Amino acid sequence: MAFETLNVEVQDHVCLIKLNRPEAMNALNTALLSELCTALEEADASDKVRCIVLTGSEKAFAAGADIKEMSEQSFVDVYSADLFAKTNDRIAAIRKPVVAAVAGYALGGGCELAMMCDFIIAADNAKFGQPEINLGVIAGMGGSQRLTRFVGKSKAMDMNLTGRFMEADEAERAGLVSRVVPAKKLLEEASTVAEKIAEKSQLTTMAVKEAVNRSYELPLAEGMLFERRMFHAMFATEDQKEGMAAFLEKREAQFRDK
Ligand code: HXC
Repeated sequence: MAFETLNVEVQDHVCLIKLNRPEAMNALNTALLSELCTALEEADASDKVRCIVLTGSEKAFAAGADIKEMSEQSFVDVYSADLFAKTNDRIAAIRKPVVAAVAGYALGGGCELAMMCDFIIAADNAKFGQPEINLGVIAGMGGSQRLTRFVGKSKAMDMNLTGRFMEADEAERAGLVSRVVPAKKLLEEASTVAEKIAEKSQLTTMAVKEAVNRSYELPLAEGMLFERRMFHAMFATEDQKEGMAAFLEKREAQFRDK
């Protein structure tokens, strides 16, 4: 499907989704969010795609929700529409791994969108922030919740209360991003990572997502039980037999998602 606010390409088993509203620093308007959910769902349903990379431009991953679009809305408008609820739910339902490759600004909804992905690879020019406070609002898609889990209360409060930006190196130290790479190499690195993930059995990558994401929702004992049962379940797959046989035979595993 062709999109107006995104570029989507599939190379080998990796789907690269690039936010494309350069005139507005990739601000997340209704059209972009709707297209993004559709593109993610199409990639999730595709037999070819095994990993998804979400990125923006060198200047901006996304500078937040579209302020122009939001500025005239009333409480009744946003509450009735339950603004951003569907986006959150649709992205959370994607079962294939989604890697965020962030260069430039990831602010407000942009930072929140990156945090909705499974992990973040940052360019050395990335800047993360929750500057909603400067607009007379607060974060609405995880900036007070997911960010706190990533970086802890102190930094999350600091960012949400002052609206300051966090540079890539601090974001890596704080655990918001998994690695920092030179801006020029961002897409190359993200694609290499995605290709590595694409080589695994999809049964296991989906199980990893389910198990890690459960850790946000469950007490430790319940989370450990969920993980253990998923681990046990993997022994019902051919890919477990293949993975372990390949190790013992000193060869690469050929997974078949079975
Ligand atoms: C709409 C935006 C925008 C946004 C930038 N633009 N961010 N338009 N919504 N969030 C537009 C500008 O209006 C401008 O358009 C063009 O993009 C270039 O931006 P500049 O400000 O001229 O660029 P620069 O001086 O380099 O500053 C970059 C920036 C700044 C630091 C990213 O644009 C900025 O502070 N943006 C807003 C960041 C923000 O507050 N985000 C949170 C939004 S609220 P024109 O037409 O003038 O050229 C939010 C709520 C989340 O995200 C709730 C859940 C999703």
